[in-house]
Amino acid sequence: MKGQPHSKQRTRLAMATLSHLPLALLILAACCVLALASGGGQWKLLKRSIGISAMHMALLPNNRVIMFDRTDFGPSNVSLPNGRCRKDRHDRALQTDCWAHSVELNWVTHGVRPLTILTDTWCSSGALAPDGHLIQTGGSNDGERVVRTFSPCATCDWAELPDGLAMPRWYASNQILPDGRIIVVGGRGQFNYEFVPKTDPSEHSMYPLEFLSETRDDCENNLYPFLHLLPDGTLFLFANTKAISLDYITHRVVRTFPALPGESRNYPSTGSSTMLPLILAVNSTQPVDAEVLVCGGAPSHSNFQANKGVFLPASRTCGRIKATDESPEWSIETMPLKRVMGDMVMLPTGEILIINGAGKGTAGWGVGRDPVLCPVLYKPDAPIGHRFEVLSPSSTPRLYHSSAQLLSDGRVLVGGSNPNRGYNFSGVLFPTELSLEFFSPPYIKLKWSRPKITSLKPGRTMSYTQHFYINFYSRKQSTKGVDEILVTMVAPSFTTHSVSMNQRLLVLRVMGLEGGHDGAYRVECVPPVSAVLAPPGYYLLFLVHGGSPSRGVWVRLGKD
Ligand SMILES: *[C@@H]1O[C@H](CO)[C@@H](O)[C@H](O)[C@H]1NC(C)=O
Ligand SMILES: *[C@@H]1O[C@H](CO)[C@@H](O)[C@H](O)[C@H]1NC(C)=O
Repeated sequence: MKGQPHSKQRTRLAMATLSHLPLALLILAACCVLALASGGGQWKLLKRSIGISAMHMALLPNNRVIMFDRTDFGPSNVSLPNGRCRKDRHDRALQTDCWAHSVELNWVTHGVRPLTILTDTWCSSGALAPDGHLIQTGGSNDGERVVRTFSPCATCDWAELPDGLAMPRWYASNQILPDGRIIVVGGRGQFNYEFVPKTDPSEHSMYPLEFLSETRDDCENNLYPFLHLLPDGTLFLFANTKAISLDYITHRVVRTFPALPGESRNYPSTGSSTMLPLILAVNSTQPVDAEVLVCGGAPSHSNFQANKGVFLPASRTCGRIKATDESPEWSIETMPLKRVMGDMVMLPTGEILIINGAGKGTAGWGVGRDPVLCPVLYKPDAPIGHRFEVLSPSSTPRLYHSSAQLLSDGRVLVGGSNPNRGYNFSGVLFPTELSLEFFSPPYIKLKWSRPKITSLKPGRTMSYTQHFYINFYSRKQSTKGVDEILVTMVAPSFTTHSVSMNQRLLVLRVMGLEGGHDGAYRVECVPPVSAVLAPPGYYLLFLVHGGSPSRGVWVRLGKD
């Protein structure tokens, strides 16, 4: 077996993602109009109304997207299924409520199916379990300790487990772990974490975490902490301006990283974060590097000022740190546009889309201003100064309570935005948005030249040890051989409040590109070698040929 050295793998990622570089030069003026002229991506309305505002979004392995907002929000624009109503005399909005607050979207047919949630899911968290069930945790009011599950099937609906959590979790974050459990961290007033699902329903352990009280400031800028499972098995945790890594097995903080200079980065000074693509190494003894990127946010007192009518400019910076270094330092990069409440979406090419949000103010009711309509592409392997590219603008502001999600065809689903106390469509600065849009990143315009995966052998259930082969068809002439090929696996995320929980992208080691006659190719791939690198469960597998990604194929990575 021929191996590729690690650095060459990096170079290949750079080559495969640099195809849009010349555009970056145009963008120095940071002006959307220029980007529009240069055709950087395309917007398309999917549906004017899905009946609710897509505050939380999760993509399931059957390609449906589950969305929900909150139950104590008053009348939505879609009724609960089967003539159901919720009766709750403590509900703030409607004591008898026959409106749905969750839907399932089929983005191929544009069909929307209302779902039943009975307890409040406001500002909650979730994760796709290894078996493909969606697990949602917490919320507010009567839903703060509820765990809800949803199975992907055409007639399935939510099941709710009261007292599923040890503590109330409102604004908490989740991360799936190598053993398939989910860690749920923080939440308003909760300086601790716990695990779900519980092995025993009477098990209500929780573990204190001082870091969460230390990072709390006057505006509580440490909610919805950013979590990333590092290749050494510890959990990287970022809140406000600080970061640690936690050994969640022994419950010890194992490292304290330097503070990120500048603004606050977490809710309500909401920035966003992603771990950069994990480039998998030649063998299991070679360490895998992990870099974390944190972008946007707002000055620490911004929420306080905004509530008094003073809307401070959002952060313009990103911090990037190699969390696996011996003495890591943040390097600071400047975005072309200021942004608070941006979403970061990992694309199949290993690039990162920064989308949605505002140029001033913070998260919260009525406190965001200057919607940032232009997404920005971040190319992690381009030289500094050429990493950002401004893309074409949407016409719909997506502020507080908006979200975005990568779809299996490589487009990005964008929805939500409700900076109002209820559904409010008139007499407000930014009306509640019930619409959904598709954003096609620049690679979609290369439609004719997109490669197509024709078969995956030995199959769609993958082990951590067995090499597999991808047969694909591509009209692109291959001149650089295997160096032009990337095989990436993207873990689907649960997205809300600019946090894409569990988002993770692996760049697999590929070798032995064969064929090319009549555009038919075959490539050999090495799976991720451990559950620490890639927790078990569903992933979207993409083949990228010369910067152009195939449609994603769902695979399930399991224990051997
Ligand atoms: C609510 O739904 C009706 C159709 O069911 C539609 O005509 C109306 O425009 C929708 N309202 C909003 C604000 O989307
Ligand atoms: C919408 O907001 C406006 C302005 O704050 C307020 O006067 C109105 O009552 C709100 N409507 C609803 C339906 O909440």
